[in-house]
Amino acid sequence: MKKKILVTGGCGYIGSHTLIELIESGRYDVLCVDSCVRSTPETLDRVKNITGVEVKNYKVDICDKDAFFKVFEENDDIAGIIHFAAYKAVGESVEQPLMYYRNNLGALANVLEACQKYHISHLLFSSSCSVYGDVKTLPVNEETPMGEAFCPYAHTKQIGEAMIRSMQVPNPGTTSLILRYFNPVGAHPSGMNGELSPDKPNNLIPIIMHVASGVLPQMTVFGTDYDTRDGSCIRDYLHVSDIADAHVKAMDYLVEHRNTDGCEVFNLGSGNGVTVLEMLDAAEKVVGHRLNYVLGDRRPGDIPAIYGDSSKAEQLLHWHCRYNVDDMIASAWKWENYLKENVK
Ligand code: NAD
Ligand code: WQD
Repeated sequence: MKKKILVTGGCGYIGSHTLIELIESGRYDVLCVDSCVRSTPETLDRVKNITGVEVKNYKVDICDKDAFFKVFEENDDIAGIIHFAAYKAVGESVEQPLMYYRNNLGALANVLEACQKYHISHLLFSSSCSVYGDVKTLPVNEETPMGEAFCPYAHTKQIGEAMIRSMQVPNPGTTSLILRYFNPVGAHPSGMNGELSPDKPNNLIPIIMHVASGVLPQMTVFGTDYDTRDGSCIRDYLHVSDIADAHVKAMDYLVEHRNTDGCEVFNLGSGNGVTVLEMLDAAEKVVGHRLNYVLGDRRPGDIPAIYGDSSKAEQLLHWHCRYNVDDMIASAWKWENYLKENVK
C-alpha cells in the first residue's frame, strides 16, 4: 500500500520537484502544506500538468501551530514528513535575522512537535552545505566538522540539525535524515516546472538565464582572482530533479528500516566542482549565443570553493546523479522560455 507523505514547502522550487518524483515513484501519496509566502499555488497546476495528479495544499503558516496541527487531525495516516518550508536568501538573512530564526526554527519546532504528538514515523530535513562554512579540505564529506556560519540563514540550518538530533531522546519513534544540499539548479526536464526566482535573482543560474533571454542586460562574474583553476569560484551544482529523486530514495531508506541510527546525515551533491566561468561557457553553448558578462570584484561572503563527496548517499540510498551540467542548463533554459510563454 502507498504511504502518505506530507511535503512542507511543496509549492516551492525543490518541494514541487520532489512532489513530482514522489508521485512518479508510484510508492507514495502526497499532501502539501505551504503558506505560499515565497511561492504561488499555481505551482501545483504545473505538478498536475506533469504527473496528472492533483495535490491538495493546506495554505497554512507552519509557525501557526494550531492551524498546522489541524492538518494532522484531518489526516491520521501520514507516514512521513519532508520539511522544505523555510526562507533561504543569504543576503536577506543578514538584513533580517530575526525573521529567519523565527520562521525557519519556529516552523521546525512545530514540525518536530507534530512528529511526536501524531506519531509520524519518518522525517527528512532540508539542510545545506552552508553548515560547513569556509572549509579548507575538499571534497566535503559528512564527517567534515561544521564551520562558523557565514550568515543567519546558515546558522538556522546548523541549529535546525541540532534540534532534530536532540528530539531523538524524547521521541525515538521518529527516524530522521538530514540532507545537506549543495547548489540545486535547473528545472524539470520537460521545462514545465522550475524556479520562480525573485524579481532580482541572486543565484548564478537564474541570473545567467535572465541575461541569456535579455531580461537582464549584463551580469558580473564575482571574482577572478581566487586560487582556483581559472580564478573564479568553484561550486557543486546538481540538477533539482536529482535532488528530488534523492528524497524519494531517502524516504524508501527509512520506510524499509535500512537506517542504523535514529538520525543520519547525507550530503547531496554531484561531487564535481565547477567554476563560474565554466558554467558561463557551458551556458553559451546550450543557449547558442554569447552572454554579456563582465569580470568583477569578489562578492562579500563568498567562499572560494566547495564541493561535496556524496558517496554515502550513493552507497546507502542507491542514488546517483542522472543529469550533468549541460542538462542542468538546458532544462533551466527550457523553463525560462516556458515562463515567458505561459506565466505572466
Ligand atoms: P523555496 O523558497 O522555493 O520554497 C520554500 C517554500 O516554503 C515556499 O513555497 C514558501 O512559500 C514555503 N514556506 C516558507 N516558510 C513557510 C512557513 N512558515 N509556512 C508554510 N510555508 C512556508 O525554496 P527551495 O529552494 O525549494 O528550498 C527548499 C528548502 O531547501 C529550504 O529549506 C532551503 O533552505 C533548502 N535549501 C535550498 C537550497 C537552494 O539553493 N535552493 C540549497 C540548500 C538548501
Ligand atoms: C554561485 C557562484 C557566486 C551570481 C547559495 C547559498 C547556499 C545554498 C546555495 C541554500 C558564486 C557566483 C553568482 C552572479 C557570480 N543555498 N555568481 N555572479 O552563493 O554558492 O550558494 O545557494 O542553502 O547556502 O549561499 O550560490 O548561485 O549565489 O553563487 O559570479 O551574478 O556564482 O560568486 O561563486 P552560492 P550562488
